Amino acid sequence: MVSKKVENALNSQVAKEAMSSQVYLAMASWAEVQGLEGVAQFLYRHSDEERMHTLKLMHYINERGGHAEVPALAAPPRKMKHVMDVFKSILQQEVEVSQDINAIVDLCLKEKDYTTHNFMQWYVAEQIEEERLARTMLDKLNMIGEDKGGLYLFDRDLKAFGSAE
Ligand code: FEO
Repeated sequence: MVSKKVENALNSQVAKEAMSSQVYLAMASWAEVQGLEGVAQFLYRHSDEERMHTLKLMHYINERGGHAEVPALAAPPRKMKHVMDVFKSILQQEVEVSQDINAIVDLCLKEKDYTTHNFMQWYVAEQIEEERLARTMLDKLNMIGEDKGGLYLFDRDLKAFGSAE
């Protein structure tokens, strides 16, 4: 059984993961309109992953005697300036999510909730990967700069990245 404190913290994380899915979805739609097919595919897929993160938390809350809440979500930004801004904001978002996850892990220890602590380790590992991926993408985009040919190849690589998974 989860305590009310832990349940509230997990529900607040449900809202954050759902919002991440929403933000990635808006970015994907923007990229698709720009003709960046590979970037769009990458972002659509990532939006699905964030939904999976949301559902995993919801099932856990319900299995542990709590009640997972479906949050109200704000509309994410519709337009981006440049693909670089997309990945900068992804990195910032993922760093914030990692901090949220760490805060829950910390709360679990304070509450002596070792079951939820164990469950949250999956998210800790996932965040390392999410941050790494965002940094790798940003490094590549920094190298490309304003080179249109480079952006074309970046987009094409992301398409292949998607189909290889
Ligand atoms: Fe589920 Fe990208 O954090």
